[in-house]
Amino acid sequence: MATINDNYLKLQAGYLFPEIAKRVKAYAEANPDAPIIRLGIGDVTEPLPAACRAAMVKAVEDMGSRETFKGYGPEQGYEWLREKIAKHDFQSRGCEVDAAEIFISDGSKCDCGNILDIFGNNNTIALTDPVYPVYADTNVMAGHTGNANENGEYEGLVYLPISAANNFTAEIPQNKKVDLIYLCFPNNPTGATATKEYLQTWVDYAKANGSIIFFDAAYEAYITDPSLPHSIYEIPGARDCAIEFRSFSKNAGFTGTRCALTVVPKTLKGKAADGSDVEIWKLWNRRQSTKFNGVSYIVQRGAEAVYSEEGQAQIKELVAFTWQMLR
Ligand SMILES: Cc1ncc(COP(=O)(O)O)c(C=O)c1O
Repeated sequence: MATINDNYLKLQAGYLFPEIAKRVKAYAEANPDAPIIRLGIGDVTEPLPAACRAAMVKAVEDMGSRETFKGYGPEQGYEWLREKIAKHDFQSRGCEVDAAEIFISDGSKCDCGNILDIFGNNNTIALTDPVYPVYADTNVMAGHTGNANENGEYEGLVYLPISAANNFTAEIPQNKKVDLIYLCFPNNPTGATATKEYLQTWVDYAKANGSIIFFDAAYEAYITDPSLPHSIYEIPGARDCAIEFRSFSKNAGFTGTRCALTVVPKTLKGKAADGSDVEIWKLWNRRQSTKFNGVSYIVQRGAEAVYSEEGQAQIKELVAFTWQMLR
């Protein structure tokens, strides 16, 4: 008889979202006039920016002639897209990120989970509480935890509480060394943002302890305060200790279209079992080119259009619309 990955039986997420729905329903019935901000699973509501749609229509046409047709693309993503991302999202903000360090993918959710493929099974993993559930669940699936307790917390994970008491910013664990740290800013679910000074404390910690930060910047387009960093690589030293995840889902409405990116600096290293240093970029490149065949040409052309003049104006409108809905 074939056996299964028993770690899946530990998962609690099936319980979390129905429970949120049940409590929201009860509250809404008891308080029919109360405005409710839903922090459960959501989706974008607005259509794709016109610039992205036009680029995708043109790309569909490219697929119709032998001269411009594209088959398998580069697993890491087309260079014309990676160059634009490197320049616009990173270099323009003073970050030393090269196009070769960017990996295009079909989603930040996938990358946040898949990244565990290239890390060992004995790392101590820290994540905030509350947190985007994917970080915890993918560690459970990978067998990095024990069972959940009655609060849904998995044995073996280091939970860093975030609440009004600490201004929704997790404190560095004082009496436990952690190896992999998930940080998400602007934060899902709290919306909290992080200052450069705050992120610097994590980068300093990671560098001092040989830890790696998984920095999820899916919501960076929603930062309005010009003093706040959009990328972990705005923090000196981050190239040696951080991987960044970004997505076109939240700024350009690609939740159904699917396109995202992960930055793995070539200077980032992890330890092999024999104690030697190994380039994380090489492992991620190997993983992606073995298990992933790239995002479709049509979708990457759509994502590229985000960086056109019209695309930039249109995504600003989309983000402004979301802010309006929240007010
Ligand atoms: C914090 C965070 N990261 C990543 C994602 C997933 O993004 P994608 O649509 O690129 O998979 C989400 C989606 O809700 C999210 O909230």
